[in-house]
Amino acid sequence: MISKDMRIEDAIKTNPNIIDILIDLKIDFCCKGYKNISEIALEKKLDLDSLVNLLNKQENIDNKLDDILKMDKDDLLDYIIDACFIKEIKLLNELDLLLQKLIKVHFDPHGEDLLKIYDLFSLLKKVLIIHFTKEEKIDFRILRRNEKIDVESLIKDHEYIGELLNKLEMLTNGYVSPSDGCETYVYTFKLLKELSISVKEHIFLENSILYK
Ligand SMILES: [Fe+2]
Repeated sequence: MISKDMRIEDAIKTNPNIIDILIDLKIDFCCKGYKNISEIALEKKLDLDSLVNLLNKQENIDNKLDDILKMDKDDLLDYIIDACFIKEIKLLNELDLLLQKLIKVHFDPHGEDLLKIYDLFSLLKKVLIIHFTKEEKIDFRILRRNEKIDVESLIKDHEYIGELLNKLEMLTNGYVSPSDGCETYVYTFKLLKELSISVKEHIFLENSILYK
């Protein structure tokens, strides 16, 4: 049962399926998972009782996060590398080529918007690749030896990544392609949304479980 004074991260641990609702309501569950539901309702100007009812109505059916939440530290580290980092790097590389193609084909009339998106995407790609590498090759190795890492600096990295993802969502109009956008346009925006959700989920796994 999810209650008003529960932190968002604990509500997700109670029922991982509420992530879909949090995404729809643009509630930050990755970097701001420490906030409780009443704070979020106030910030987002949502009716608190309706929000809690909505979250409690969400079916608690099998979710891949249930199994992940039961993993021990080493398995969780392996999961984050194999299922998050590798998948997200593949998405970044595919998206890089797709966005370049869109700029070429749709420069008229969408060149200005697409260049802004590509500029931000290129920064996000660089930041993510450096972040994944630092975590996998430095911090995760330290964690496997049961030694202390600089959690604050990693959480700061996550906040910056979260800000870039929020900007990307704004620039792409919530990942909705223009009405004259071709199939590639629609597919590219769909993949950008997939990347954003995947990165947010992996930040949640690190901030709210691994680094606790
Ligand atoms: Fe991270």
